[in-house]
Amino acid sequence: MSIINFIENYRKNPRTLFTTPSHGQGDFVFPKSLKLLGSKIFQSDYSEYDGFDNFLNPTGIIKITQDKAAEIYNAKSTLFLVNGSTSGIIAAMLGVLERRDKVLIARNCHKSVYNGLVLSGAVPIWIMPEYNKEWGIYENIRLDTLEEVFSKNRDIKAFIMTNPTYEGVMSDIYRISDICKKYGVILIVDEAHGALWNFYKAMGTPSLLQGADIVVQSLHKTAGALAPSALLHINRESSVNPKRIKEALNLITTTSPSYPLLLNIEECINYLGSNKGKRKIYELLKNVSRLLRTLRTIPNIQVYSYNNDITKILIKLVNVSGFEFSDILFYKHNIECELANSQSVLLLTGIGTTNSKLKKLEKALFEISSENIKIINKNNSQKQGLVVEPRVRYAPSAIWGKPSKEIELKYALARVSMELITDYPPGIPVLFPGEVIKKEHIQYLKDRQKIKVLI
Ligand SMILES: Cc1ncc(COP(=O)(O)O)c(C=O)c1O
Repeated sequence: MSIINFIENYRKNPRTLFTTPSHGQGDFVFPKSLKLLGSKIFQSDYSEYDGFDNFLNPTGIIKITQDKAAEIYNAKSTLFLVNGSTSGIIAAMLGVLERRDKVLIARNCHKSVYNGLVLSGAVPIWIMPEYNKEWGIYENIRLDTLEEVFSKNRDIKAFIMTNPTYEGVMSDIYRISDICKKYGVILIVDEAHGALWNFYKAMGTPSLLQGADIVVQSLHKTAGALAPSALLHINRESSVNPKRIKEALNLITTTSPSYPLLLNIEECINYLGSNKGKRKIYELLKNVSRLLRTLRTIPNIQVYSYNNDITKILIKLVNVSGFEFSDILFYKHNIECELANSQSVLLLTGIGTTNSKLKKLEKALFEISSENIKIINKNNSQKQGLVVEPRVRYAPSAIWGKPSKEIELKYALARVSMELITDYPPGIPVLFPGEVIKKEHIQYLKDRQKIKVLI
């Protein structure tokens, strides 16, 4: 029986529980929480009671539901994650990497990769995706560079990359996985922003189906589930051992199954896989496509279109920086973007994005376009991306917790950074702990006074 069916049945004849959690399935809820959340979510908050399952070693309803999901995704194994893609990325790294193993990482990685490096003890080698100055975003990794790095470093164990990028740029995972296979490298794809693809392949081809070994997806970002629910899939053809990945996940995840999240994950997958779900995704795509077509006709508005997932709307206002554009949307039109950079703004849509919301955006953009906006200071007021080859002096695990001190940035040349500095945007780490501070970093970070360095 699946999680949802089991809970529906259990509700018909609930037991008198002297167990955790202590709110007693909503018998007591703090007053403000009750007002804001209601008690319904508490009513489904169970623990490991008889007939329920064990989250770390599932043999019952959780296992059955996960196995069914694996079939839907055509995976060797699918794990439900209640600590987001963050936990999936760390588990994937802990599951395949040993201390001092070399791992190639595309620099536009999420910060959870840093956590994975500290915990696994693996040593990073970095590959820089190409920077698109006109849009202020990072795009693809050059395949010839990838091949060159592998051929020079025959001992690389795994490659971690993000597909699609935050802005929706998609990579050719077929070719990347072929290259990885040629060099015996395990391909881990952070597909946090691509969870709808499995259910509507015209949007994008899931990395798992293109040959990635391990794929991690957030279900809350685009697919409508509660935050922070996510999935980890292992490819049927992969040599990666699912047992090892599960053991790794168990090192870092909670022992308490969150049934509200688990049942929501189950329904998310079932719903999106149903005809209703497909229609809902189709409706989203139709509405976004219509909006994009209209935006292309608005004077002074430009729309990014390059092999990207169209649900991530990247636009710019001619002669106005993305930061200023975002401020206009926010302060004059009460519209909040996901992020802005020196050139453009990113607006994310997902399964819950209504057409009326898109229409509001469209109306605001028509108004903005017709105003005579004069705040033009695009290039010198805002940062461009920093494209400098990182120099790793120590693996993050080797210096984590080591003594450090703050010094003035201007004296930091050639010192070892103890900070993870990720500049949002463009959202790519400028410096990782353990990396040597170069003069380009000092110039780029000139707005900062101080930096923490290794003593
Ligand atoms: C590319 C990418 N990967 C992973 C994550 C982490 O996802 P989660 O919030 O599900 O832990 C994020 C979150 O912003 C992300 O943008």
